[in-house]
Amino acid sequence: MDKEKYLRWVASTRERRMRWWKEARFGMFIHWGLYSQLGRHEWVMNRERIPLEEYEKLADTWKPKERPAREWARLAKEAGMKYMVMTTKHHEGFCLWDTKQTDYNAVKRGPGRDLVREFVDACHEFGLKVGFYYSLMDWHHPDGARCAKDEVARRRFLDFTQGCVRELCSNYGKIDILWYDVSWPLEDADRWETYKMNTMVRELQPDIIINNRAKLDEDFGTPEERITPAEEGRAWESCMTFNGSWGYMPSAIDWRSAREVVQMLRTVTAGQGNLLLNIGPAPDGSVPPEAVERLTTVGKWVALNGEALYGQVDRAQGWMEWSPTGQWTLKGNVGYFWCDRWPGGELVIGGLHTRVRKVSYLATGQTVDFEQTEKRLVLKGLPAKNPDELVGICVFKVEFDGLPRQELGAGYVTLDEI
Ligand code: GLC
Repeated sequence: MDKEKYLRWVASTRERRMRWWKEARFGMFIHWGLYSQLGRHEWVMNRERIPLEEYEKLADTWKPKERPAREWARLAKEAGMKYMVMTTKHHEGFCLWDTKQTDYNAVKRGPGRDLVREFVDACHEFGLKVGFYYSLMDWHHPDGARCAKDEVARRRFLDFTQGCVRELCSNYGKIDILWYDVSWPLEDADRWETYKMNTMVRELQPDIIINNRAKLDEDFGTPEERITPAEEGRAWESCMTFNGSWGYMPSAIDWRSAREVVQMLRTVTAGQGNLLLNIGPAPDGSVPPEAVERLTTVGKWVALNGEALYGQVDRAQGWMEWSPTGQWTLKGNVGYFWCDRWPGGELVIGGLHTRVRKVSYLATGQTVDFEQTEKRLVLKGLPAKNPDELVGICVFKVEFDGLPRQELGAGYVTLDEI
């Protein structure tokens, strides 16, 4: 397929391919590899300049416990996540699957088994979509750096890369997401042969969704450690660490709280994006207890309030305003006000231009008394304390007469009122 034809085909099938993903909202990222044994971040090989021969020994000492992927999948499900993306090969170059491209893999070395197969099986068992992370950059392959300056090395490295991606897309049934990472050291899609590679991927996996990190925009953008919506019409997913490190790192103790995770979910939903939240399992595969605890709480919250985030949502930006007591997500004529700073007996929301029909607590369905005047919506008879005991975020479901619109601007009056 030539480039133009490829791009047309990808664009014309995008909406169909991405429907489930746009409704899923929340996924689990898993960074697991040889580096997990050192517990000093997945960049440890590079940051500490560990000699290759020394690092390679980690391939034999890695002995994960039996099927940890089932634990991740159970936890992801419980947390309300709908898909998982696992590192099949990180920058260190160790392949977690049964590959013919190199012996530096989980079947031939320490683990003695195909960890990607276990991951895929676990996703299926728990009804989660399957995503493969694959690092283009490779610190282990002899041509991984040389390919920038030596055309023969580049050919060998591209054959290796395409061989790996072909296996991943051929041997594990249906794959839902291909998540490329770091395209160092080649400058552009032509040098990486991304068109050729992704054409192959789509021939093998016609429904697959591909991210933008192989120097082509493809299906979705990937803001990292920040939640910044892409321009309208462009799909995006924020990937976030839980504690500042992607790989297992016990000394990284600044865990995001369950409340922060819920706030992240609110922000991605308001911008029609997704949240891919990372766990870095220990070398044996177990999930750090801090992550388990927080994800369990998030799951309980999402079970009560999922309507405010899952499914086809509209952008809140440009339609609704911020307020010191909370923020909105939107679906058609319904606004969800996520109140995270509880005001006490009454909650006042200003500047709504649309008539409100009904207000209720999303978690319980119980209706809320309200009064709406030209400029103010006043919710009445609220309890003294935020009724959400899980994370202190109570969602009000506000049903409007038409498409909601709120206007406050920066002044006490809006300029067209003068
Ligand atoms: C960065 C890091 C990498 C991590 C990735 C996740 O590219 O290099 O370690 O896997 O972000 O988005």
